[in-house]
Amino acid sequence: MTSPIRSIAVNTGGGDAPGLNAVIRAVVLAAQTRGIDVYGIRRGYEGLFMDDGVVHLNRDAVRGITHLGGTILGTTNRGNPLEWPVERPDGTVEVVDRSDEVVAELRKRRLDALIAIGGDGSLRIAHALAEKGFPVVGVPKTIDNDLEATQLTFGFVTAVETATDAIDRLHSTAESHRRVMVVELMGRHAGWISLFAGVAGSADVILIPEIPYDIEKVCASIQARYATGREFAIVVVAEGARPLGGGQVLVEEAKAGRAARLGGVAEQVGAAIEARTGRETRTLVLGHLQRGGSPTAYDRLLALRFGAAAVEMAAAGRFDVMVALDPPHVHAVPLAEAVSRLKTVPLDGEVVRTARDLGTCLGD
Ligand code: F6P
Repeated sequence: MTSPIRSIAVNTGGGDAPGLNAVIRAVVLAAQTRGIDVYGIRRGYEGLFMDDGVVHLNRDAVRGITHLGGTILGTTNRGNPLEWPVERPDGTVEVVDRSDEVVAELRKRRLDALIAIGGDGSLRIAHALAEKGFPVVGVPKTIDNDLEATQLTFGFVTAVETATDAIDRLHSTAESHRRVMVVELMGRHAGWISLFAGVAGSADVILIPEIPYDIEKVCASIQARYATGREFAIVVVAEGARPLGGGQVLVEEAKAGRAARLGGVAEQVGAAIEARTGRETRTLVLGHLQRGGSPTAYDRLLALRFGAAAVEMAAAGRFDVMVALDPPHVHAVPLAEAVSRLKTVPLDGEVVRTARDLGTCLGD
């Protein structure tokens, strides 16, 4: 098999997700099968501006990494070349667009195409580079599963497993102490992880960004449960959840090249529950544990399929597209479509309806 593409660059951008290494391995091996060389850019796009930031990836470089979490290339969610913060001598920060430099660097290094593995932010950058004429194929990654145009992103299933395991473990301690346990899960503005792990883990209350919650209703459902003799409760709250008429809880406001950081809603929900019900309440934030560890077999397979498909697209000269899962197929969708809007939980979706049928309080 031969291709007009002689060399491909690959990078990983945004927050890491289990399965990144599996994609990298598939890209390298599928490219090698076609006689294409692969170069890895370290830390998103930063590697292009570093002395040792672009590394040749051969078969040996990707041996035994399919099951490993993280990314051998490193990543960053601060290195957006479209909004690059540059500190001036007077201490002020100016935001500059370095995308032309990125394209120039890729060309200077004789890289014919780029496979960009990332979430919505990274894929937006990929689309911008494609619009400047550089051949790019995107691979959808994020534990949040919030990308339109693909049924699943790799990393999501692993995060749901981790979160479900945490919820399972909370049950025994909650019951022993007759407490309310409030666990905060990731997901940014989408409630996928919380909804799926909450239902799978038999949470009593699940609060997601798509359904603003009424704390009185949350407390009433907890009191009703205690009244039946089940004197403990598990509350799953997505980091992006917000009360009726209120806003999301932020750790840090958005700034140049960096989205706002969410976090702290569990503490607020827990305090409100304890104050209103008098039930002893504890809170925890599962945090980055959801991004760590080995990808599940499903995520490994999805990541390998995405990586191989991305090379297939590049070799066939199909660019400005993202590989996407449309079961049972992996196919190409325009990058512009993929980043046009976030995929949030549909309120009339089947899993939401299942949760309601099971008697789970969704805060409304
Ligand atoms: O997008 C993945 C994600 O883990 C979100 O769920 C979370 O809000 C965010 O990244 C956390 O980012 P950081 O790594 O900057 O803490």
